[in-house]
Amino acid sequence: MATSALDPGPALDPGGPLTFPPGFLWGTATAAYQIEGAVAEDGRTPSIWDVYSHTPGRVRNGDTGDIATDHYHRWREDIEIMSGLGVGAYRFSVSWPRVRPTGAGPASQKGLDFYRRLADGLLEKGIQPVVTLYHWDLPQELEDAGGWPERDTAHRFAEYAGIVADALGDRVTTWTTLNEPWCSAFLGYGSGVHAPGRTDPADSLRAAHHLNLGHGLAVQALRERLPATAQVSVTLNLHHVRPLTRSAADADAVRRIDGAANRIFTGPMLSGAYPADVMEDTAGITDWSFVRDGDTALIHQPLDFLGVNYYSPTLVSHHSGPPVHGSDGHGASDHSPWPGADRVAFHRTPGARTAMGWTIDPDGLYELLMRVRRDHPDLPVMITENGAAFDDYARPEGDVRDPERIAYLREHLTAVHRALGAGADIRGYFLWSLLDNFEWGYGYSKRFGMVYVDYATQRRVLKSSARWYAELTRTGTLPA
Ligand code: NOJ
Repeated sequence: MATSALDPGPALDPGGPLTFPPGFLWGTATAAYQIEGAVAEDGRTPSIWDVYSHTPGRVRNGDTGDIATDHYHRWREDIEIMSGLGVGAYRFSVSWPRVRPTGAGPASQKGLDFYRRLADGLLEKGIQPVVTLYHWDLPQELEDAGGWPERDTAHRFAEYAGIVADALGDRVTTWTTLNEPWCSAFLGYGSGVHAPGRTDPADSLRAAHHLNLGHGLAVQALRERLPATAQVSVTLNLHHVRPLTRSAADADAVRRIDGAANRIFTGPMLSGAYPADVMEDTAGITDWSFVRDGDTALIHQPLDFLGVNYYSPTLVSHHSGPPVHGSDGHGASDHSPWPGADRVAFHRTPGARTAMGWTIDPDGLYELLMRVRRDHPDLPVMITENGAAFDDYARPEGDVRDPERIAYLREHLTAVHRALGAGADIRGYFLWSLLDNFEWGYGYSKRFGMVYVDYATQRRVLKSSARWYAELTRTGTLPA
């Protein structure tokens, strides 16, 4: 979110151990298409990511999620690993084409049973299951019918949410509708670096609205079925946007990107309206007539917490030449994922980077958390993703050492601790990711796991960061 004058928070005691509040939830996260494999088993049909990854030239090295980390068959082992790490919660996503194969037809009992077994296995180990309903794997049949730019998809999503709530509502208490709808709308239908790979700015805005609508309808479907104690949320990859200079033109570039990345979702979801400036910025692309009376009220459902994913900040300036694309860290394309922001240039923020090329900037996380606290003081936050990819490898001795990841985690958790000290209501932290996995357009070339996966054998090896995280979950104090 945009930078502004923020309280810097209490000074850290550099020497003292940083202890988190009792009850702070330590978790880890994955997503179905990135880990499950078994794409044609038990009635599952293709999702947009199956079709996209099987299209030559779309994913690095031609990688697909066909096998991934074979979690569909190895989930018991993966629960054992999590149990050993002492995590209190596991955030995973349900694969829509696994539980409702055609997107709109009958539910698949086998598909639902998989997630029931998974949730039960977690609960047996004292690990809270945290379900994400949509982590990007739209059934291809619904994409063939128009995908997220079509209003109907929002209704199909709400039906699917109801099916999953009916099947898991007796054992899952924490629910997330969408994961990072910005990526679904603008990388999927704008720049095309994510499935389904379409590149139409007007469609990307329609997709954003129908994702918002799908969220609102799904929250209603969940509330109708779940006990009042259920926790319902959405996860956004809020962008922490900074200006290159203090000029008014750069401040306007920040405003535009903050609008197109953040407020286009937080506006209707958390405040019940699309921001006027976002609609003005995009007026040359669409007239927004796809927003019907009552839509924004419907999208504006009470939430129990906001899920925030953070990796790196965004640095922008005003740009007066021809549009420049592909330099914003989300993957190269001739098409922009930023409708209405042609006159914005993206810059690499200074400092060390992860294997994704993303700058390591824990202050960005602190500032983002304080911005959320300022704008939505009554909304608790869960950090539903944070982590880093590095070029990890198994040494001849068999172990995997990742001191850079430990440093990244330590720095970011120090920022979280600082935000807690400054009054932010942060309930927990989910490390992305449990396992190395299919990193979307980058395939298996990027490793985000605290557990290394040898893809040839599917052997899992704890990296040193996993041992470090286990100590943190055990003590609640950042290990030295
Ligand atoms: C956000 C996404 O939710 C997740 O699927 C992805 O792997 C990580 N960021 C890292 O890029």
